[in-house]
Amino acid sequence: MFKLFFPEQASTLSTEVDHLHYYLLAVAIFFSVGIFLAILFFAIRYRRRSERELPRFQHTGVALEVLWSVIPFGLVMVMFTWGASVFFKGSRPPDNAHQIYVVGKQWMWKTQHLGGQREINELHVPVGRPIKLTMTSEDVIHSFYIPAFRIKQDVLPGRYTTLWFEPTKTGKYELFCAEYCGTKHSGMTGWIYVMEPDEFQAWLGGGAPEGSLADRGQRLFQDLACANCHKTDNTGRGPNLTGLFGRTVQLASGGSVRVDEAYIRESILQPAAKVVAGYQPIMPTFQGLVNEDGLLQLIEYIKTLGAPAGTAPAEGSGPTDKLQGAAPPTQPSMGTSTPAKR
Ligand code: CUA
Repeated sequence: MFKLFFPEQASTLSTEVDHLHYYLLAVAIFFSVGIFLAILFFAIRYRRRSERELPRFQHTGVALEVLWSVIPFGLVMVMFTWGASVFFKGSRPPDNAHQIYVVGKQWMWKTQHLGGQREINELHVPVGRPIKLTMTSEDVIHSFYIPAFRIKQDVLPGRYTTLWFEPTKTGKYELFCAEYCGTKHSGMTGWIYVMEPDEFQAWLGGGAPEGSLADRGQRLFQDLACANCHKTDNTGRGPNLTGLFGRTVQLASGGSVRVDEAYIRESILQPAAKVVAGYQPIMPTFQGLVNEDGLLQLIEYIKTLGAPAGTAPAEGSGPTDKLQGAAPPTQPSMGTSTPAKR
């Protein structure tokens, strides 16, 4: 019966979202029907029977007043706490989630795996593993929506938003853009393919021919001459980026900031916005020189420059082992541009 009205349940969150939804429906139906029947009953039972009839004034019992306040209060508090718990669960990706990047543009979804494999309007993922999507847009606001997983998140230009899910069933699920984004908005759809983990590994293959995201980030880092200032021995005019990702840094303006994807992105495009304490605001902007894909590559490269303890790089991220000792970016070895083959 519910199959008729609801999409398939294919993620860990989808059953929880549905149960909450059933509760809201049940409460709404119970009160709609109850109030309607009460109106009908009272209208007939207490109708005016003669022209001169005047009702007697009556006090309502205190007990009744308390009851009809306390019961609805309890019901809405259940909605609030239950809803909040599902919401928080849905907004916090688990630490061990498998990272995938999504870039929306008029009118397609570009997805990218850490190994460098790219897809358009398709996304292949393994079943039974939490997947974290870090998403941005090249133009207008889009919204990444997978009904079978009960997840939806706006994808904004100039900003990273995240979404996570853990598929529970293999299969093919529809992907939609859920924010009107221009003429071909309705055509901005795609498919999520949920595969068995070994099938997924086979699908990933040995990585993309042009190297993993981090590899390409390293090449971009060289091409843009970032290493001229961001030296690994702390003598550069810019901060040493080794082991930086995930740490909290002090700012020249006072205060501090945690180094995450958003901060790296901002520091590349608007270097003067949050300057690290002890450094001058001399870095030029790279706005227009690095596109969204390039930013993601640089971020992945910086992540591989030594991660803080306890955050091992996600499986399938390719050549991170090789880079983890933080090979000085000023002296690239010739081998680093080819991805490690499994
Ligand atoms: Cu993209 Cu609607």
